Amino acid sequence: MKLRSMLFVPADSEKKLAKSLGSPADALILDLEDSVAEARKAGARGTAAAFITANAKQLGAQLYVRINPLDSGMAMGDLATVVVAGLAGIMLPKTRSAADIVRLGHCLDALEARAGMAAGSVRIVPVATETPEAILNMQSFAGPIARLAGVTWGAEDLSAAIGAVSNRDEDGSWSPLYLLANSLCLAAAAAAGVPAIDTLHADFRDSAGLAIACRASRRRGFRGRIAIHPDQVAIINEAYSPSEAELAHARRIVDAFAAQPEAGTLSIDGVMIDKPHLTQALRTLAGAG
Ligand code: COA
Ligand code: MG
Repeated sequence: MKLRSMLFVPADSEKKLAKSLGSPADALILDLEDSVAEARKAGARGTAAAFITANAKQLGAQLYVRINPLDSGMAMGDLATVVVAGLAGIMLPKTRSAADIVRLGHCLDALEARAGMAAGSVRIVPVATETPEAILNMQSFAGPIARLAGVTWGAEDLSAAIGAVSNRDEDGSWSPLYLLANSLCLAAAAAAGVPAIDTLHADFRDSAGLAIACRASRRRGFRGRIAIHPDQVAIINEAYSPSEAELAHARRIVDAFAAQPEAGTLSIDGVMIDKPHLTQALRTLAGAG
């Protein structure tokens, strides 16, 4: 299932939930964590569950819920309410290592059985770099992890945990720690065999900046991005979809190898093509459906 765009929707906002129904996002993330004030968290759980029950069947978007962190004292209550038929996945914030994903998976085993859902059907997307401990534990993603659907990263909570004045240098570029977090997200996702999903572009009125950031991120290997505003979704979907020219080139590579099954390497337009190019071409075509 594609995860080019994942749109955050604060789960305590009936207005935003209603608006999200018209979004072309590949996934909606009904948020119970940072965008919901403490006093509204309990109510938001029920609102999210009711939204999933009412809309999952007819909606094109996959429905995820971002629960509160496992050590917050709220995660089990969140899960007990929102694991209902139609839930596609859980976004796990402040993930400390892949062991948290395994632990969450065990909880989901029981809750799926209670809800009469297929075992293993609820997927997990961790926010993998929000704590300093998590950065040091990223090697735990080296290998397949049950239920994992993608890996994303975050810079805001990490800079708060560190006590940094900002996560940006004076020229506006990411500070080194956040470039590391970004790169570790790419490596962890690839090692675990799932797509890397880039972090949010906070300036949600800046469409041009978002498009530039998406193009750079896709070149680096990210396969999608978090959205925080409905207007960001179309830009993200377009940026993380292969262009016609890329598709045509990928087809040429696949066709060239099919025509010469004995060849380990060959040339197209005077450029050497070998196994990694074929892998990439097949991935491009598979991603386009
Ligand atoms: N999901 C669904 N609908 C949204 C939305 C979202 N994430 N963000 C805005 N909307 C709606 C607004 O309610 C408004 O609806 P209306 O046309 O019916 O009035 C419309 O889209 C336009 O919104 P706009 O006025 O441009 O933005 P805003 O000032 O209302 O909201 C934010 C700005 C940042 C508060 C809002 O985009 C938001 O809540 N984003 C998600 C935040 C979040 O979940 N953060 C956690 C992850 S970091
Ligand atoms: Mg946060």
